[in-house]
Amino acid sequence: MWDLVKHEECETWKFRTSRTHWWLCQVQCGPNIAMMIANGLCNPQCVRKIGSPSPNPGRHSHMVPRKIIIDTDPGQDDAVAILLALASPEEIELLGITAVAGNVPLSLTAKNARIVCELANRADVAVYAGCDAPLKRPLVTAEHVHGKTGLDGPVLPDPIMPLAPGHAVDFIIDTLRTEPIGTVTLCPLGPLTNIATVLARAPDIAPRIQEIVLMGGAYFEVGNITPTAEFNIFVDPEAAEVVFKSGAPITAIPLDVTHKALVTKPRNDAFRALGTPVGVAVAEMTDFFERFDKEKYGSVGAPLHDPCVTSYLIRPDLFSGRHINVEIETQSDLTLGMTVADWWGVSGRTPNATFMGDIDADGFFALLTERLGRLWARLCR
Ligand code: BDR
Ligand code: CA
Repeated sequence: MWDLVKHEECETWKFRTSRTHWWLCQVQCGPNIAMMIANGLCNPQCVRKIGSPSPNPGRHSHMVPRKIIIDTDPGQDDAVAILLALASPEEIELLGITAVAGNVPLSLTAKNARIVCELANRADVAVYAGCDAPLKRPLVTAEHVHGKTGLDGPVLPDPIMPLAPGHAVDFIIDTLRTEPIGTVTLCPLGPLTNIATVLARAPDIAPRIQEIVLMGGAYFEVGNITPTAEFNIFVDPEAAEVVFKSGAPITAIPLDVTHKALVTKPRNDAFRALGTPVGVAVAEMTDFFERFDKEKYGSVGAPLHDPCVTSYLIRPDLFSGRHINVEIETQSDLTLGMTVADWWGVSGRTPNATFMGDIDADGFFALLTERLGRLWARLCR
């Protein structure tokens, strides 16, 4: 049962579930309410009772930036996701970045995360190294997509900023215990090893999480690393299972969405035309991995997976999906890492995730380009 209620103090809209989780829906995502009603996620009676949301999305003076931790395996698309967060302080307060092994080994993902922070002139961001291998399996990497360094494409200097002291898992646990309950969102952009380790080591943490917004999985698009599995879930399926069974509110952005977020030539030209170090580097990153992806998919451009997560935090109205049951296959050799998503509601299993299915790709790229352009302005101040 879902209710839509208005929080008096900050005038944000919240979806309240019977599980007592509060699903924050800022006034900025007013248009998303129609989608939620259409998908049976909230009760239209409540909406009528409370009134219409703000007609001016994203411009509300009471907006409180959402506190997030990005858990990542950069990866060019991870890099763009981080840059989008750093460019959006009105909506996002980045508490820290935690690196995990995935696209490339941990030593490189931890280095790449810092390269990206320095590209945005944000050496002050705390970057922690986390788990260097999946929970129960050898690491599978994706140099065939991202290149040997994981960030192939632009020539960027090695980072000067050091790693933050301590382990990523401890940082996530400490942060969630220190911040008020329900105020920190985790944004995993790679295999879910760090997050699963947090949940296993500290069972008090799941109820403290505001939301887990992750890139991973697939339903209609099935798989990209095997015929039935998406890379992030495939690399550590046992970790994904822990996360999807944790009871924390989950929003999953699968290949069904990201395969519609294609970097076409005009979109890539728009990044380059920003004429800034960030704009040019992003264009060079997408130039690099599109060679592989265009050949593989025969599409007009490469999917820009991970920035969909940070974009969702800023403009959830660009996305639509369903609150459904999602289980992870951990046994079968043939379908290992498959996200068994009950899109049609035929299993009778309890919904545990909002599984996105569509994106306004033009809106997404307009947002991304505008925000990346702001990083130059910040550098110049
Ligand atoms: C995911 O796998 C990685 O290669 C990308 O960074 C993204 O997180 C897409 O399947
Ligand atoms: Ca990634």
